[in-house]
Amino acid sequence: MNIDLSNQRILVTGSSRGIGKAISEALLDAGAQVGLHYNSTPQGIELLLEKHSGAKGIRANLGESSEVLQLFNEFTSHFGGIDVLVNNAGIAIQSSINDEDNQFMQDWRQTMEVNLGAVALLTKKAIQSFVEQESGRVINISSRAAFRGDTAEYLAYAASKGGMVAFTRSIARAYGKNGITAFNIAPGFTRTEMAQDFIDEYGEEYATSDLALNKMTEPKDIAPLVVFLASGLADHATGSTIDVNAGSYVH
Ligand SMILES: NC(=O)c1ccc[n+]([C@@H]2O[C@H](COP(=O)([O-])OP(=O)(O)OC[C@H]3O[C@@H](n4cnc5c(N)ncnc54)[C@H](OP(=O)(O)O)[C@@H]3O)[C@@H](O)[C@H]2O)c1
Repeated sequence: MNIDLSNQRILVTGSSRGIGKAISEALLDAGAQVGLHYNSTPQGIELLLEKHSGAKGIRANLGESSEVLQLFNEFTSHFGGIDVLVNNAGIAIQSSINDEDNQFMQDWRQTMEVNLGAVALLTKKAIQSFVEQESGRVINISSRAAFRGDTAEYLAYAASKGGMVAFTRSIARAYGKNGITAFNIAPGFTRTEMAQDFIDEYGEEYATSDLALNKMTEPKDIAPLVVFLASGLADHATGSTIDVNAGSYVH
């Protein structure tokens, strides 16, 4: 099966590293026009910009609503609209219930702002365009943590990812008649800088001991799924979550 995304205008958040970078590369290779969002790592998108004329880099701190709106507006002005939104960017801040209360709540709010608030606002704007054009897809990168739960240091992270799952399911149910579909992808440990923080704390063995497969998932193991979902070939799976966790958590 050859997937040609040449008519698709796709915004990917967090294109500069890890999973988002692999997703962006795969979408560009399939011919899509891709908005490469980044924040602090502009060098992460340089090669993709050089190689693909259909790519545009856009900077935004997703912790600031005004910058989230700017990101959306810059994307749609450049490409003339949007067909697919991939909410990939995310943060996993370590915190402890023994932290000082204000610090605990500051970490909680920051996690919710980036992992859920920015997702909500970008999706709201995208849906308004999708309703008008009677088509559009939302692909959200959630986490195994939404279903299995996480360790004590990542309570906010898991809660934000659980919220993302419910949000996606609601979009799928509420806007299907408008030609809009929405999907979750739930990765387990995937070899990126985010996972490295966890591995540094708990060791590689902790991250790999419960895998059914013989090696940890890499960003390239997730990217083809996004190409497939963006193509529309899986639209009747709207509302569903696809686990990509090397068999570490089957539910
Ligand atoms: N890696 C895993 O094991 C794993 C497992 C399950 C789910 N996930 C999910 O997969 C997604 C990608 O994770 P990853 O492992 O690829 O993460 P990563 O390597 O840490 O990369 C995070 C990306 O998000 C962007 N980002 C972070 N904070 C931002 C902010 N405040 N404003 C704008 N952009 C921001 C970063 O941009 P800059 O570098 O340009 O600032 C970067 O492109 C996340 O939603 C994560 O929760 C990851």
